[in-house]
This record gives sequence, C-alpha cells and structure tokens, in this order.
Amino acid sequence: PPRGRHRCRRRPAHPQDPLRRLGEPVPLPRDLVIGTSTASYQIEGGVTAGGRGRSIWDDFCDRPDAIADGSSGAVACDSYHRWDEDVDLLRGLGVDAYRFSIAWPRIQPTGDGAANPVGLDFYDRAVDALCEAGVAPFATLYHWDLPSALQAKGGWMARETAERFGDYAALVAARLADRVAMWMPVNEPVVSTLFGHAIGIHAPGESRGFEALAAGHHLLLGHGLATRALRAAGARAVGTANNHTPVHAVGDADEDVAAAALYDTIHNRAFAEPILLGEYPNGMGDGMPGPVAEDLAVISEPLDAYGVNYYNPTLVGAPGLPATVAARAAAPRLEAQLSVPEGIPFDVVPMAADEYTAFGWPVAPEGLTEVLVQLRDRYGDRLPPVHVTESGCSTDDVVEDGTVHDEARIRYLDRHLEAVAAAIDAGVDVRGYFVWSLLDNFEWAEGYTQRFGLVHVGADQERVPKDSYAWLRDRTRTLRSSG
Ligand code: NOJ
Repeated sequence: PPRGRHRCRRRPAHPQDPLRRLGEPVPLPRDLVIGTSTASYQIEGGVTAGGRGRSIWDDFCDRPDAIADGSSGAVACDSYHRWDEDVDLLRGLGVDAYRFSIAWPRIQPTGDGAANPVGLDFYDRAVDALCEAGVAPFATLYHWDLPSALQAKGGWMARETAERFGDYAALVAARLADRVAMWMPVNEPVVSTLFGHAIGIHAPGESRGFEALAAGHHLLLGHGLATRALRAAGARAVGTANNHTPVHAVGDADEDVAAAALYDTIHNRAFAEPILLGEYPNGMGDGMPGPVAEDLAVISEPLDAYGVNYYNPTLVGAPGLPATVAARAAAPRLEAQLSVPEGIPFDVVPMAADEYTAFGWPVAPEGLTEVLVQLRDRYGDRLPPVHVTESGCSTDDVVEDGTVHDEARIRYLDRHLEAVAAAIDAGVDVRGYFVWSLLDNFEWAEGYTQRFGLVHVGADQERVPKDSYAWLRDRTRTLRSSG
C-alpha cells in the first residue's frame, strides 16, 4: 500500500557525474515519481449520477458552436462507472501516482452546504482503489467544473466563490486527507482566467478582456483558502498545478520585447508570484479587488510542492509590427488557434518547429528545461520541490492490429523526460513527471478531436493501450533498476 510510500523530503539536486561522457543521456533520479493525469469533467461522464449537480461545463457545452465537434463530457470515458478498469490500467502501467480531479458538483451539487454523501463515497472508494493498486493519489480540487449555481451568483468574478471553495476543500479533506499523497487545489488558474473569462473560449464563456484578472485573483484566493483548509485537516502535502510557458519576443524592436514581457507577466508571473512570493508583479495588485494585501498572505501559504503543466513555448510580438506580421505570414497553418482580440497590446504568433502535435502545437522539449530553470532562477529558495504535473501531446491515432502505433507520442515523452533530466542536472529539484493523459478524453473546446491518451478510448468505451503505454511502462521499469 502506498501509505508512506510517497515521500516528500528534500533531496540534493542530481549530482554532476564527472564520468558521464558528453552526448550520453542525462540520467534521471531513480525515485522520480512517474504518474499520469486526468480531470473529472474530461473523463467521468455520469453527469446526473449520484446526485451530481450541473457545472459550468455542462452549460457551456449546450451552447451551439462552443465545442468543435458539438460534443460534451456527458459520457466522456465513463470513468465514473469504470474507475476500477482505469485503476487496472494504472497498475499495468506500473506508475507511482495518479493525478485525478474531484468534481465539486458531486460533493456540493449547488456549491454550498452539506456534502452529498454519494459524491464523497465515490471518491473515497476511488482513492482506496488507487491505494490498493499501490498508486499514490494526487488530487486536484478544481479542474474547471464549477457548480452552475455558483456561476449564477457571479462565479469566479465574485469573491464568495473563493470562500465557498475553501468550505468545499474542508469537506473533501475531512474524508480523504489521510490517504491523498498530494493535493493541488486549483488547476491552471491562468487558463481559466484567460480562456474562460477574458476571451470566452472555455466555460463560463465570458469575454471580459483585462477585467478577467479579477477572476484570476479569486482563483488564487480560493487556492489559499483551500490550502489552509487542507492543512487544518492534516493533509500530507499540498502543492499546485500552474501552467507555465517560456515567452520569447518575436523581434528585437522595443515594442516586441515589451509585448513579450507583458505576456510573461500575465501568463506566468501573475500566477506564480502571489503563491511563491506573496506579491503581484509590476504593481498588478493595485488593480485587484478586495483587501489585496490580506489576500496575498492567504494565497502565499507555504507549499510542499509546486506543480508545472508544460506544453509549449510562446512567441509574442507587438500587434502589426514587422516581426509579428512576418511570423504570421510564415506559419499560416496555426493562425486559427491563436487569435488575440483587437486592442490587446500583444500578439501571440505562430512558432516554427521541427514537429507539431495534432493540435498544431510546436514540439519544444527544451522549453520545459527553460521553464524549470527559469522558475528556480526567479524564485530561488522560495520555490518548493517541483512536479511536472502535466506533459503530453495529441496525435492522430488509429487502432491497427489491436493497438495504436503512436511513435510521435513516444518520441515526445522521451524528449520531455530528457528535458526534465537536463533541468535536474542544472540543479532544479524536480520530483515528479505526470503524463497528460492516461486516457483519450474530452479536450474542452476541441471535444473528442484531440487524443492525448496513453490508452485509446473509442466510442464503445473500449480501452486500448497504445504503444506509448508499453513504452512508459518499460521506461519506468528501467528507471527503477538504474543506478
Ligand atoms: C491542460 C489542462 O489542465 C488539461 O485539462 C488539458 O486537457 C491539457 N492542458 C491539454 O490541453
């Protein structure tokens, strides 16, 4: 059983090995936690089962044209009814940990009041099943499925939502804190803020531009209040899962450099610094709602780990300037993905790469090393040990001979693990690497058109492990027997 198996202790950075010959792969620490990640709305289905209330994603999917293939998470991978099957897959994969999320509307169907016992029982059994399989449970409390009843009262634009989130965290922790190895209160507050509240391509579908930063502040406050509730309930370890991207200016013009710095501030620093330093960058706190100084004291509650979700770097330029225009012209294929509304003083432009994922995202493992080293360089001792809480790619998979030959995913994961090794070699204390995702699942606005899984899931719900599943299993075994 995993009780006590997952350790959260300080260990020195990987020592430079003087005997390692140049060009040889950098070794990974043999106790690096290997895991996979999922999220409730993306895999569970069962949206009316067990007294679950509606969430903003149920509502958003009802909007015509919101989801690329017109689908929703109503059935998804049906993991609500197939949890044990998923745990068998994790057992077969031989991973140490599983990062999953808890659906708030299963615990509190209307976002406040007493816990729904059926919801708590479900996750209680889910956690037990993981423990029995020797897989450490890493639980996210909010992976974007806000109870609709709270949205009706203002959602994350309202301070009350952060307070309700603290109450919800206390209810869950009272039941699960004895077994969950690591808690991550909020997944990617930056994406919820920008996609959900600034440009409206995710639930709740609001296009508020810069005003959306208030929602970001309340998500951060929710993180802090939940962290306190988790601590009070005796949580074993608390971290977070923030999306990070290294930001590069597309040209040397001062305007391009300033645009890139602004984007970096909004995407990376505005969500890392309140948590790690207890302050907003560049005076941004002045524009935030509420008693900001007091809130920052809550938000910066010390953590046991810092989670980084990494997918790709971001190239930014000043709108309309020559370098921006040239970059757009050079890679028109990606134009559709990256549209920044008019009037915003930066433009996210397509990036050239040797390889792209099915989503059209550039494959850039060196960006993962860069992000990890940058966090260490920026925050030094204020940065707790790091877990890469998401890393993965979508590929155009087809089932052949009873499996999926997803060489591109294998190459992707291999190169990103090497990027982690390079960061460790540079002295960053990285403790874990979680593949997004265990299963092909509901990829938000892209519906089921983007497959990120190590395991293929078809319309009939059949789980077919891909070649990458066997590869990760063998890679993890090799890692354990190394050194
Ligand atoms: C990050 C999100 O946390 C996850 O839900 C999503 O599926 C992946 N990115 C891939 O886009």
